[in-house]
Amino acid sequence: MAKRVLVSGGAGYIGSHVTVELIEAGYEVVVADNMSNCDMTCFEGVKKITGREDIPFEQIDCCDAAAVEKLFTDYKIDAVIHFAAYKAVGESVAEPIMYYRNNLVSFLNILESSKNHGGCNVLFSSSATVYGEAEKLPVTEQTPRLPATSPYGNTKQMCEDILRDTVKATAAYGAEVNAGAQQLGPVKGIALRYFNPIGAHPSALIGELPRGVPNNLVPFITQTAIGKRECLSIFGNDYPTEDGTCLRDYIDVVDLAKAHVVAVSRMLDGKMKEDYEIFNIGTGRPVSVYELVNAFEKVNGLKLNYKFAPRRPGDVVAIWADTQLANNELGWKAERSVEDTLAAAWAWEKRIAGK
Ligand code: UD1
Repeated sequence: MAKRVLVSGGAGYIGSHVTVELIEAGYEVVVADNMSNCDMTCFEGVKKITGREDIPFEQIDCCDAAAVEKLFTDYKIDAVIHFAAYKAVGESVAEPIMYYRNNLVSFLNILESSKNHGGCNVLFSSSATVYGEAEKLPVTEQTPRLPATSPYGNTKQMCEDILRDTVKATAAYGAEVNAGAQQLGPVKGIALRYFNPIGAHPSALIGELPRGVPNNLVPFITQTAIGKRECLSIFGNDYPTEDGTCLRDYIDVVDLAKAHVVAVSRMLDGKMKEDYEIFNIGTGRPVSVYELVNAFEKVNGLKLNYKFAPRRPGDVVAIWADTQLANNELGWKAERSVEDTLAAAWAWEKRIAGK
């Protein structure tokens, strides 16, 4: 019997790409999403890419404990990949209660049901934002986390800690502890710290669907190129970097999705070295904002309307991943070039614009 993976937030940008890769690797998937930040476009795309019309989809809010509990009762779940969370940094500063409530409560519910249904393997979608403005680059998993600069970033740190503590507390749980309808069991955990996920599936059937004005660089670039936005502002060209713009580690979303499959397999196949593990998921290559814009123009053969603008408050100058642990332990490596990724992002933007 194929193992079943619950993907919370599975109709969203990263979740839909992960669902595709899981199915292609032979896993059964249950998608749960409250559709608060997406529509059915990506889920329909997932079905087309995989040729699977029958993927179970549950429209639930993971903040609803009873609904999460019902999911775990209705399906035998072997692993969870938890994406269901809010992710806009600026909005989190304006609406901290909303962010803490949504991002923490949903994860607590997932963990509670995980331990009450005989234990589970839980993969948490974390972020390189936990490193803040790191003193030494590239950052390894041992690089100290710095105090978060936004409630969003804080929820990532807090959820990592909640997972770590739950893994520790449940390690000795066995089925005999509470033999009844519910059986307590150990939770094992992996946190993947993503760098900057960009791009779209090569089929152009799934990709990012930002609501309103995009905060992130690549959707802003593609929307400017298609004419939805007038001009891209490059935030800051006076940083202490070669061309004065910030450096990031842009990871292709399909490569990122594949990292989830290997991490889930590691848990399900009993290959973990510790019951709670952390991996950086990036390329290890710093790319400046200016370089990225140039690469986008070149690979897609167009000119982008952009201007240099003041720095954006809260941005770090530079961050990129030391990927050795993921490369050696997971046997995973980012494969796609930035050019291919930017071509895929553009193909997706054209598709959703109907061009
Ligand atoms: C941001 C979040 C990070 C989160 C991640 C999720 C901040 C400070 N950080 O990362 O916590 O995990 O998104 O994807 O918001 N840029 C422009 N013009 C634009 C948009 C962006 O020049 O219109 C620049 C930014 O200044 C930055 C780079 O592009 O240097 C990348 O920005 P973005 O895509 O927003 O990602 P991060 O800020 O790295």
